Amino acid sequence: MAPKNFSSCINSIWILLFVFGVASAQLTPDFYDKTCPGAFAAIDKVVRAAIANESRMGASLLRLQFHDCFVDGCDGSVLLDDTPTMKGEKTAAPNNNSLRGFDVIDRIKAEVESLCPGVVSCADIVIITARDSVVALGGPYWTVLLGRRDSLIANFSGANTDIPAPTLNLSGLITSFANKGLSASDLVTLNGAHTVGEARCINYRNRIYNETNIDPSYAAPLRAICPITGGDNNLAPLDTETPAVFDNDIYKDMMMEKGLLHSDQQFYNGGSTDSQVEGYSKNPEAFAADFGNAMIKMGNISPLTGTSGQIRLNCRKVN
Ligand code: HEM
Ligand SMILES: *[C@@H]1O[C@H](CO)[C@@H](O)[C@H](O)[C@H]1NC(C)=O
Ligand SMILES: *[C@@H]1O[C@H](CO)[C@@H](O)[C@H](O)[C@H]1NC(C)=O
Ligand SMILES: *[C@@H]1O[C@H](CO)[C@@H](O)[C@H](O)[C@H]1NC(C)=O
Ligand SMILES: *[C@@H]1O[C@H](CO)[C@@H](O)[C@H](O)[C@H]1NC(C)=O
Ligand SMILES: *[C@@H]1O[C@H](CO)[C@@H](O)[C@H](O)[C@H]1NC(C)=O
Repeated sequence: MAPKNFSSCINSIWILLFVFGVASAQLTPDFYDKTCPGAFAAIDKVVRAAIANESRMGASLLRLQFHDCFVDGCDGSVLLDDTPTMKGEKTAAPNNNSLRGFDVIDRIKAEVESLCPGVVSCADIVIITARDSVVALGGPYWTVLLGRRDSLIANFSGANTDIPAPTLNLSGLITSFANKGLSASDLVTLNGAHTVGEARCINYRNRIYNETNIDPSYAAPLRAICPITGGDNNLAPLDTETPAVFDNDIYKDMMMEKGLLHSDQQFYNGGSTDSQVEGYSKNPEAFAADFGNAMIKMGNISPLTGTSGQIRLNCRKVN
């Protein structure tokens, strides 16, 4: 219907603005299909090379999505280096001497910039990289939603307060996820990411010396790796059997009191989430499908879209 006079013309413009505004604020799977179709293959190639070189890198890249999205939303803030005027998130307690994969993200960004300069955000690279890592480790594929833009700031104190600590009990973990719009069920599903990767002694020491809901035959050899004093950075696998394969073993571990972190064992400790753990331990397909959906849901936390933020040229600093 063509506008007949000035007023209906103005109305049409408002309708267009509204439709465009809503569309641009929405993440979509095809966001780069016209502007950078080669990005996906380029990203996957770097991810696979990094994992072929060191299998743990897949776990490290997966974790980056969690630590980015939980601090002011999925906006690439976790990738920013410190500046004289801004303390980045990299040295916040959950990240310091722990978060890895920044060099791989740099290599990906360089590849993607050479293909299509100034188009693909660092925030979206984190999301695509997490998915590709899970696939490379034998886990499920999911369709990522894209169109995020990059933050102009990092949030050191937000990283300290909003990323849950492994010392929390079940209700504390549920609250920290609820604060981000994620359910207790999402929490149990997403913690399945601990089917890959490793943790430092400092994060499991108290558990292997002091806790009672742990299999003694599991704790004993861990004490050799992680002494009562010293060796804070000594690593142990989060999944007892296959720390480089994305499978459902972590749920079987929980049922045998072989969760490495205090937090891991909370999900099978006589509480409300036991049945979900049991279900996933028997049904790897259900876990795989739920995991992809929960990653998409986590990826939807407060993205910057439209003209907010920017497309960083270097993921470590604002343009
Ligand atoms: C439920 C709350 C969670 C807590 C308390 C937690 C805590 C931790 C801790 C303490 C570590 C070991 C870090 C270190 O010792 O340096 C770790 C590692 C890891 N986390 Fe979580 N995490 C949680 C949820 C998640 C989620 C939702 C994901 C991703 C979807 C994730 C992915 C990983 C991965 C893959 C590793 C291994 C990283 C590597 O080897 O480099 N975690 N987590
Ligand atoms: C390969 O992995 C080792 C650690 O195992 C690391 O020191 C090295 O930088 C990695 N090389 C590349 C190109 O990623
Ligand atoms: C991060 O770790 C380094 C090396 O252990 C330490 O010197 C530094 O104080 C830590 N930073 C913060 C902010 O805790
Ligand atoms: C940093 O994170 C905290 C905790 O979520 C939040 O209250 C605060 O507004 C954030 N600061 C900025 C500048 O985004
Ligand atoms: C969980 O931890 C919180 C804070 O430390 C505490 O107030 C609460 O009583 C604990 N809940 C249970 C069920 O242990
Ligand atoms: C065991 O718990 C006690 C009391 O909380 C604490 O002082 C001690 O440091 C813990 N031991 C280890 C090895 O973490």
